[in-house]
Amino acid sequence: MFTVRFPVFGTGVYVADPVAIRELFTGDQSDLRAGEANSFMSPVLGPRSVLVLDGAEHLRQRKLLLPPIQGSRVAGYRSVIRDVAEHEVAGWRPGARLVLRERMRALTFEVICRAVFGVTDPTRVERLRAALGAVIDSSPLYMLSRFARVDLGPLSPGRRFVRRMGAADGLIFEEIARRRLAPDLEQRADVLSLLLRARDEDGRPMTDGELRDELFTMLGAGHETTATGLAFAFELLMRSPAALSRLRSEIDAGENDGYLDAVVKETLRLRPVIDAAERTLTKPRKVAGWELPAGVKVYPGIALVQMREDLYPGAREFRPERFLDEAAESYSWIPFGGGIRRCLGAALAQAEMAEVLRVAIPLIELRPVRNRPDPVVLRGITLAPRYGVEVEVARARQPRRLPAVARVA
Ligand code: HEM
Repeated sequence: MFTVRFPVFGTGVYVADPVAIRELFTGDQSDLRAGEANSFMSPVLGPRSVLVLDGAEHLRQRKLLLPPIQGSRVAGYRSVIRDVAEHEVAGWRPGARLVLRERMRALTFEVICRAVFGVTDPTRVERLRAALGAVIDSSPLYMLSRFARVDLGPLSPGRRFVRRMGAADGLIFEEIARRRLAPDLEQRADVLSLLLRARDEDGRPMTDGELRDELFTMLGAGHETTATGLAFAFELLMRSPAALSRLRSEIDAGENDGYLDAVVKETLRLRPVIDAAERTLTKPRKVAGWELPAGVKVYPGIALVQMREDLYPGAREFRPERFLDEAAESYSWIPFGGGIRRCLGAALAQAEMAEVLRVAIPLIELRPVRNRPDPVVLRGITLAPRYGVEVEVARARQPRRLPAVARVA
């Protein structure tokens, strides 16, 4: 454990001990807040976003959101992901240069549009991409500074932000209204349709405002993170020929997914996209034997614990097989955080990473443009490859149809 005193954000205590992390994630939560620390995102995600709420309101949103994106539902989204991945990879011609993180951002956006929003019409997907992309990609300054959002006239940045938010909200509310009237609403399996049918413990449905905020949240939390995880996976595989060749032959042979899933887990261990979870103490609390005062932010150190040499021998090496022999131990493998704030999209993100690799690896050979792996840098709140993983397509094969799996309506 160690303390960091940040100039603006206050005192933070990092924890890299799995036992203490388990206690933080699963012990009494009444004196821990996570939403408060995320509240700077509410100008974009909205005040009812599960990410910015705490206490009973947070639990209500979480209980509504979990069933549509939990593991058992995710099997149904795999074919959507594969369709999107096949379409993306089909455009990669030999000799072309790509920035993988950008290509993966386009791909994960499309997956969210289809699987989460349930929008498949290409024209509407493109409208959403333009309007929501303009908001999500806006400068973080708009979230951090109230002044940046003030509308000071037609040419001011504040007016631009207000206009972009208005356009994005307009489209989201349009999709919600359209879906409410869809004749096949009861049969549909996309997340928005399931949320429209969901009821809380008092039998209340979600309001349009809640739906808007949670759709924005899933896009904001799930698109860039998964794209970055995928860019890292390609980079690690490109630079580990033995792992790449084993993965390729296991996919070609139609083996079970053991090695593929291990590649995903090892990528998220060695290159965690979020470096730490965050909990603010509302009362003094003992953490791993230390008395910490109220107001301190405690950071379960995702990157720290996952790089511990005693837990992961050869911790700086990419060794997917470590997850073949032993299952990931819950509190030393925590790329998705834990407890009542654990990432709601964890199953979807892992399925997405696995399906994209399953499609791309047999078809495409990539060559890194740079001699050395991209340094890992902080981009907003994610750890990302500095240059986005630049590659050249060395070889491309035509896709063979993958076995069909259940489709999302
Ligand atoms: C590789 C991809 C992803 C990574 C590494 C990741 C990581 C995380 C982490 C570390 C947290 C905080 C957990 C905590 O405080 O204990 C989180 C929260 C969250 N994530 Fe993800 N995430 C990913 C993808 C997704 C996707 C695809 C979605 C949805 C479609 C999603 C939705 C959320 C939501 C809604 C929360 C807030 C949960 C709450 O506060 O109760 N994430 N994620």
